Amino acid sequence: MLPMKLDDFRTLIVAVDTSTDMLACSVAWWTPEVFFDDTPSRACVEVLASRDHLCRRQANVELVETIDAVLADAGKSMADVGGFLVGRGPGSFTGVRIGISTAKGLARGANVPLMGGSTLDACAWLAWRSGVRGKLAVAADAMRGEVYPALYEVDEDGPRRLFERERVVKAAAAAEEWAERPDATELQLTGDGLVRYGKLFEEAGLMSRALPRELWWPTGEGLLLAAASPEGLAAAGATDPALVLPVYTRLSDAEENERKRLGLAESVNTAVTGVADELAGRHLQVRPMAAADAEAMAALERDCFAGAAHEPWSASMFLEELDPNAPAARSWWVAHDNGELIGFAGGMVVDKDIEILDVAVSRAHRREGIARKLLSHVSYDAQMLGCTTASLEVEADNEAAIALYGSLGFGEAGRRRGYYAGGVDALVMSAPLPLVLPVDAASPEPIAAVARDWPLEAPARTPEERAELERRQLILAIESSCDETAVAIIDAEGALLANQVSTQIDFHARFGGVVPEIASRKHVEVIVGVVDAALEEVAESLGLTGGALAPSELAAVGVTQGPGLVGALVVGVAFAKGFAYAAGKPLICVNHLEGHLFANKLTTPDLEPPFIFTLVSGGHTMLVHVRAWGDYEVLGETLDDAVGEAFDKVAKALGLGYPGGPVISRLAETGNPKAIDFPRALNSKGDYRFSLSGLKTAVTLYIEQETAAGRTISLPDLAASFEAAVFDVQYKKAKNALRETGAHEYCIGGGVAANPHLRRMMIEKLGRQGIRVTVPPQNACTDNAAMIAVVAREKFLRGEFAPMNVDADPNMTL
Ligand code: KG4
Ligand code: ZN
Repeated sequence: MLPMKLDDFRTLIVAVDTSTDMLACSVAWWTPEVFFDDTPSRACVEVLASRDHLCRRQANVELVETIDAVLADAGKSMADVGGFLVGRGPGSFTGVRIGISTAKGLARGANVPLMGGSTLDACAWLAWRSGVRGKLAVAADAMRGEVYPALYEVDEDGPRRLFERERVVKAAAAAEEWAERPDATELQLTGDGLVRYGKLFEEAGLMSRALPRELWWPTGEGLLLAAASPEGLAAAGATDPALVLPVYTRLSDAEENERKRLGLAESVNTAVTGVADELAGRHLQVRPMAAADAEAMAALERDCFAGAAHEPWSASMFLEELDPNAPAARSWWVAHDNGELIGFAGGMVVDKDIEILDVAVSRAHRREGIARKLLSHVSYDAQMLGCTTASLEVEADNEAAIALYGSLGFGEAGRRRGYYAGGVDALVMSAPLPLVLPVDAASPEPIAAVARDWPLEAPARTPEERAELERRQLILAIESSCDETAVAIIDAEGALLANQVSTQIDFHARFGGVVPEIASRKHVEVIVGVVDAALEEVAESLGLTGGALAPSELAAVGVTQGPGLVGALVVGVAFAKGFAYAAGKPLICVNHLEGHLFANKLTTPDLEPPFIFTLVSGGHTMLVHVRAWGDYEVLGETLDDAVGEAFDKVAKALGLGYPGGPVISRLAETGNPKAIDFPRALNSKGDYRFSLSGLKTAVTLYIEQETAAGRTISLPDLAASFEAAVFDVQYKKAKNALRETGAHEYCIGGGVAANPHLRRMMIEKLGRQGIRVTVPPQNACTDNAAMIAVVAREKFLRGEFAPMNVDADPNMTL
């Protein structure tokens, strides 16, 4: 049967790719070719306009405006767009994320499909388009001396991949590999890797057949042709913007290093203090297994599997799992509650399968989702190690375990008769990765993307509801400056109607601090899900029964522009721009530090300058005289570490994990703040600067001395004394600033402002002097989007909107 071209199904598609220095951008008619009663097998592409151009490091600045311009070139507007196509790389990590985040925002904002395509294939199709036939070798720049190598056989129908999966190798290795091929003399080279590593390929005798330089970068048309091919269409899969993710080909450095010594993370080594396990946290903590866990694991194992058919593991067997030289990679995770080991799970990588070796949860903590949590970490590691499936063996009569595994997607794959002692069968179960991990509203785990019908149905609203939404003027705000992906929605009167946070702490804790590359990756992964959750929450708050809020029902979109981690900020900013542009809403940029300040308005709506503001977070320590809104006189800042950073470093030295603030403040509750006399730096009057590195050194010295002398350290006393040293200085400087400026109001913000002792101290001591003291709600101190929404609302009321060419600004100040 001949394919039928169905012009009724013709869609206007915007294609973008920012994985390389090329900002590729085209708009095209996209017509699926359909056999009767069949799904489309390829599409026909007719490019209407293109604005491909080289723009080094300016992609986030130029992308949305380029899309706007290319649509205008084609005589079209956003309203005509029926879908987006984005290059998923591989390429520059940040570049790929800018393209994908913007595209996610565009597709979510316009409620249209998003397809993902391969940047390497785009290069190959561009070559095909320009008449190249035969063997084609693409060397795409992967930075740091590496390339993404890709070989194609190109004939009249197009390029065909001669490789299975994208990978990254040293440029020199790629040159050598290609030069050694029997068909080396036929290889025609292309790709932006030739710019930087051309010499290497030249020396390998491969450059004489390089394509002309203008073909080295992907174009919008190349991307479209690649996506329209049968392979491209098959690979694109779902069109839900939540599910389109970058092709990275390699782990973040941190994870790569960890992979090599899995389970031996320094931050969990509590041996320094000689007081080990009981410090490991008083609330549920999930972290990689360390040597110190082995005894407790064996004890839990004995308890859980008393009378079971299989031989319980011993402490030394667990210890062997940590051997960094073991031939197969391992992943073991433990859960602690109140310093007590309450569960563990682990597995071993065999080919592309993770064999779950053992899972145990203490009797008192069953049905709390702990096994699920542990397995989600193990399976995440496994995926990062290239696994595609998980498998395990379970006693055939252990119904509870079988049910649990079943709910995670495990199905029976086989049975070993009489495998266990007593003739009990072993059930072999296996599951594809990722495991099915249901979204639990109360869980701090990242919100997982769920497969759904996309695009979404338009919400059903009554005329009254529509009028109500119009009147309220809802503003959606996005925060992604560090390790929380957060979205909040506020109305013009300041009522907070949605507040969602997806924290990544579990993914960073094992490294003792935030790993920027992991943070950026997680933001891209969850941002659509968190926005969705906020849009659902606001509908619920307003009692709308006709479905989640649609982007078109918002009045504006706010986003944190800076300061923060650049790679993390970029995700939020790019997404927000795409989202606002596609929904036709104004964009508002918010300073994260102003957000911490405005969090106080959630408690005291009538807060009015002049007042003194203390900002104490993981990245900042500032004493500010707020003379008027927007008129900030920074009286003093830290010369070295920020207060939150000092908490984190001290906690790390004590092996208490990350973040340090909450653990230290809990320990300090029962400690004596006068027990140890730690130094108070820059404590003279009129000096508003802070310094915390001396205090940090004093604490580490103290730990070393006491340990060397064989004395047991009282952690509560240490924590309380450390806090006292930090907070005394904060109090004194705030008091002096209030006196000097004559202000009668005081407020505080930033993650450390969640500390109950600091809050109480300021409220009581300054309160006694007739100062009105405001502290933000405790959950609005650490990073959140509610505070960003409060600022966005003020700017919305003033009509302070941002143009579409704004970029993240990691160095913003007050
Ligand atoms: O404001 P934030 O969430 O992120 C930045 O913008 O930096 O602050 C995070 C910091 C971390 O260093 C964390 O240890 C600290 O806030 N923190 C605390 C407490 N809760 C969080 N510090 C002291 N006591 C707490 N209860
Ligand atoms: Zn912050």
